Amino acid sequence: MASTPSKPRSPIVGWLIFGVGAIGVFVLGMLATSVTERRAQSFPARLQFMEPIADFEADNAKWGQSFPREFNSWESTKNTDENSKYGGSGHRDYLQADPRLVVMWAGYAFAKDYNQARGHYHAVEDVTGTKRIDEKTPGTCWTCKSPDVPRLMAKDGVAQFYSAKFADYKNEVKNPIGCADCHDNKTMTLRVSRPALREAFQRMGKDVDKASHQEMRSLVCAQCHVEYYFKGKKEKYLTFPWDDGLKAEDMDKYYAKSDHVDWTHAISGAKMIKMQHPDYEVYMQGIHAFRGVSCADCHMPYKAEGGIKFTDHQVRSPLYNMQNSCQVCHKWSESEVKGRVESIQDKNHEMLGAAQEAITRAHLEIGDAMKLGATDAELDGPRKAVSRAQMYWDYVAANNGMGFHAPQECARVLGKAVDLAQQCRLEVAVLRTKKGGGPLAMPDISTKEKAQAYIKPFVDAAKAKAAAAEVQAHPAGAK
Ligand code: HEC
Ligand code: HEC
Ligand code: HEC
Ligand code: HEC
Repeated sequence: MASTPSKPRSPIVGWLIFGVGAIGVFVLGMLATSVTERRAQSFPARLQFMEPIADFEADNAKWGQSFPREFNSWESTKNTDENSKYGGSGHRDYLQADPRLVVMWAGYAFAKDYNQARGHYHAVEDVTGTKRIDEKTPGTCWTCKSPDVPRLMAKDGVAQFYSAKFADYKNEVKNPIGCADCHDNKTMTLRVSRPALREAFQRMGKDVDKASHQEMRSLVCAQCHVEYYFKGKKEKYLTFPWDDGLKAEDMDKYYAKSDHVDWTHAISGAKMIKMQHPDYEVYMQGIHAFRGVSCADCHMPYKAEGGIKFTDHQVRSPLYNMQNSCQVCHKWSESEVKGRVESIQDKNHEMLGAAQEAITRAHLEIGDAMKLGATDAELDGPRKAVSRAQMYWDYVAANNGMGFHAPQECARVLGKAVDLAQQCRLEVAVLRTKKGGGPLAMPDISTKEKAQAYIKPFVDAAKAKAAAAEVQAHPAGAK
C-alpha cells in the first residue's frame, strides 16, 4: 500500500506543547523567586517561650533558656581561629600590616592601635581593651557593644547616656552584643533598639518601623555597621551622616556643611574626618542589595540540626559557611566561590594601596612645605584636598569585606581618592618648588614601631600647640 501523506498535526498538540512550556517557565520562575524570598517567610510555629523574658533583659543566657539553638550558635562567635585571606575572626594588626596607616592617622587614636574585628561575643572585652579609649572617651562608645545599652538609655535618657563618660558605665555594661539588640522580648520579631538609626531614617523622611521583614534582616545590622560621628563637643550625640544619602559624595557634602572635624592631622595640619565602618552604606550600592539579598542571608543563614531548621547566630565570615550561604543561591563549587571573592578582594586591596601611597605622600609633602615656610592660606586648598581624599579612601578601607559588598562602587570611590590626593600633591609640588624645596624621600616607616616613632615629634608638637591654644582661650581662674 502506498503510504498516506502525513496529516497536518492536530492543533491540540501545539497547545499541549505550549501549555507544558508555560508550566515549566512558571515553575522555574517560582523556584527563582523562592530562592530570594523564602528566607523572608514568617517564623516557624515552634517559637515557644519556656518562661517570659523581662523587658530590657540583657543577659543572653536568659533568652537562651527558651532558644538554646540560637543561643549556642550565638555563643560560637567567641571562636577566634578563622582567618581568611583578608577577613575572619582571628587576630590581625592592621598597622603592622601597613604602617603607612600610622602616618595617615597621625594625631588620632587609630595610629596607636587598630586590629581586625572579632566576633560579637568579644565586643565588651575588646572596647575596654583598646588603647584608643582614655579618660575623655564619652559614653557614646558603648552604644554598639552591648544589649545593656537600651536598658541604660531607658533608665538615664538617650542624650544623658551619650554625654556621660565611658568610665561611668563600666560597671553597668557587662553583656556582649546579643538577643536584646535585635529582638523584641515578647514576640522575638526583629526590632530596632538603637535611636540613631531611627533618627537617621526620620531625617531622610522615612519610617524605619515600616521597613519590610527582608529589609529588617539588614537593618538590625545597620544599627551598628555604619558610618557615624559624635555630634557636639559636649553632647557627643551619636549621629549618622545620611541626610544627603548613603554614598561617599553624600557624606562629603554633609560634613562640608557641618562644622564637625574628627582631628587635625599632626603632620599636614589638615582637618580630618575618620570614617567608621560604613558596611550598610557600601552594601546598599551593590548587586546583592539591589536583588534583595540581606546581610543575614550571607552572615546568618539557615542551618539544620536534627531535622530542625533555625537561623545560625554565629555571625562571621561567610567563607567559613559557604554551603549554607552563597551556595544556596549560586551553584558554584566552594573553590569557585572562594576564588570569586578573593579575586574581587585582591583588586580592591591593590587600589587601596595606591590610595594609601598617594595620601601618605601628600601629608608628608604638605608637612615639608610648612617647614619651607608655606602659609596656611597657601596650604588651604591642598589640605582640603588631602582631607577629602582620605575620607573617600576610608569609606572603602573602613568598610568590611575588602570590597566584596559592592566591588564596582569601591573601585570608583578609590579612583576618586587617588585623584584628589594627586591633585593635592601637584599643588604642593608647585609650592615647594617656589620655596626652594627639592625631591622628598619617604622616611623609613617600614614597621608599625618605626612609623609610630616617626610621627611622635609631630604629635607631641601638635598636642603642645593645642594645649597652648586652650590656655589662651580659657586662662586659669577665668570661668
Ligand atoms: C552576598 C553575601 C553578603 C552580604 C549580603 C553581606 N555580606 Fe558581609 N561579607 C560577605 C563576604 C564574602 C565577606 C568577606 C569575608 C572574608 O573576607 O573572609 C564579608 C565580610 C563582612 C564583614 C567582615 C567579616 C570578616 O570576617 O572579616 C562584616 C563585618 C560584614 N561583612 C558585614 C555585613 C553587613 C553588615 C551586611 C549588610 C549590610 C553584609 N555584610 C552583607 C558577604 C556578604
Ligand atoms: C545581630 C542581630 C541578632 C542577634 C544579636 C540575635 N539575633 Fe536572633 N535572629 C536574627 C535574625 C536576622 C533572625 C532571622 C529572623 C527572620 O528572618 O525572621 C533571627 C532569628 C531568631 C529566632 C527565630 C527562629 C530562627 O532561628 O530563625 C530566634 C528564636 C532567635 N533569633 C533567638 C535569638 C537569641 C536567643 C539571641 C541571643 C542569644 C539572638 N537571637 C540574637 C538576628 C539576631
Ligand atoms: C549592637 C551593635 C551591632 C549589631 C546590631 C551588629 N553588629 Fe556586627 N559587630 C559589632 C561590633 C562592635 C563588632 C566587633 C566586635 C569585636 O571586635 O570585638 C562586630 C563584628 C562583626 C563581624 C566580624 C566577626 C568576625 O568573626 O569576623 C561580622 C561579620 C558582623 N559583625 C556582622 C554583623 C551582621 C551581619 C549583623 C546583623 C545581622 C551585625 N553584625 C549586627 C556590632 C554590631
Ligand atoms: C539569597 C541569594 C544569594 C545569596 C545567599 C548570595 N548571592 Fe550572590 N548573587 C545573588 C543574585 C540574585 C545576584 C545577581 C545576579 C544577577 O542579577 O545577575 C548575585 C550576584 C553575585 C555575584 C556577581 C556579581 C557581579 O555582578 O559580577 C557574585 C560574585 C556573587 N553573587 C557572590 C556571592 C557570594 C560569594 C555569596 C556568599 C557569601 C553570595 N553571592 C550569596 C544572590 C545571592
